Amino acid sequence: MVVRQSTGELKELLVTGAEPGALRERAAGLRRVRLSGRDLSDLELLAVGGYSPLHGFMTQRDYLRVVNEMHLANGEPWPMPITLAVSGEEAATIKEGDDIALADESGRCLAVLRVEEKFPYDKKLEARQVFRTEDEAHPGVAALYAQGDVLLGGRLRAFDLPAHDDFLDYRLTPAQTRAAFAERCWNTVVGFQTRNPVHRAHEYIQKCALEIVDGLLLHPLVGETKSDDIPADVRMRCYEVLLRNYYPRDRVLLSVNPAAMRYAGPREAVFHALVRRNFGCTHFIVGRDHAGVGNYYGTFDAQRIFDEFAPGELGITPLMFDHTFFCRKCDEMASIKTCPHDGESRVILSGTQVREMLKGGIEPPVEFSRPEVARVLIEAMQERVTPHHAI
Ligand code: ADX
Ligand code: MG
Repeated sequence: MVVRQSTGELKELLVTGAEPGALRERAAGLRRVRLSGRDLSDLELLAVGGYSPLHGFMTQRDYLRVVNEMHLANGEPWPMPITLAVSGEEAATIKEGDDIALADESGRCLAVLRVEEKFPYDKKLEARQVFRTEDEAHPGVAALYAQGDVLLGGRLRAFDLPAHDDFLDYRLTPAQTRAAFAERCWNTVVGFQTRNPVHRAHEYIQKCALEIVDGLLLHPLVGETKSDDIPADVRMRCYEVLLRNYYPRDRVLLSVNPAAMRYAGPREAVFHALVRRNFGCTHFIVGRDHAGVGNYYGTFDAQRIFDEFAPGELGITPLMFDHTFFCRKCDEMASIKTCPHDGESRVILSGTQVREMLKGGIEPPVEFSRPEVARVLIEAMQERVTPHHAI
């Protein structure tokens, strides 16, 4: 088998120079398709190069090979379908070869898609292959089942990015994070994906990684997540207080990933790694049940899946961590791998336990969460329990 070592080259689909004006004008006269929040996240990542080497929404050959073999038709690794689904009725008004305009939820056009192919697809097959389940209770599978029955594939040219009014200081493109790493003279950078507040276990694996690389990209996902995940704005406040109090300023870059969460566990771990490669990382942290939900995946499935790729193929090195926690007997953070003590010495709390404590205004133990972070979370919970009314 020939292994293609990734060049790490960025494929930005946002046109520059004099082109955006002409393309915007052209888009105004085209048939318009409105995208969902999830599709807009994909459009944004395609536009800024976060999904390099993709050059648009997938055509059938790429789609099928990705679904079945985690590679694009040209043999490059890619584990996640990036598709644009429309309803049968909408598809009936679009011909192969047409250019269409892609618009945000308010109808503002952002990009032109050359529809090279429109094709039906097997949602159950995609669910089984990508999510390892056909269960519609799985949030990623539910989103797949809810979308249209026809896929539009083809080359994308964007002239605007989706509008945002939040986290503006943290919305760096891959070109910008790469430049920031170069400016700081970081040759090696570890990326950290998260959709949760950073607790001591996360902090520990980040700092273990940081012992052997030059810098850390703390890269929380701020696109759509499921409703019981902590909202992105609250998490951002947690990251800010944590960094201010416990991290060396010159070794960490906080920036957001506009992606939506798929909860595809193992496949999404590889996908998260590739996206962070595009943002300029050389290493990527994969801990316990990465991108998992419920009991759909084994605790370390998201680590094992990396064995299915040849060494060097992904262009980024995964750093795997065992289940980590504070151990009272060790009197420090540790993992199953490094701590010899029994369960009773270990401070391990489930997500549900932590939520209950925070709702009741109780700070989780300092061994579990930094007090500054716990306070931000408690405050946010209280605001939601007792909403402020206008007087
Ligand atoms: S997600 O991608 O898995 O949805 P999350 O914020 O929950 O994000 O986890 C971020 C990263 O930390 C993932 O790589 C996850 O595997 C890892 N992780 C979370 N908690 C622990 C833990 N207690 N021990 C080891 N790794 C962990
Ligand atoms: Mg998780």
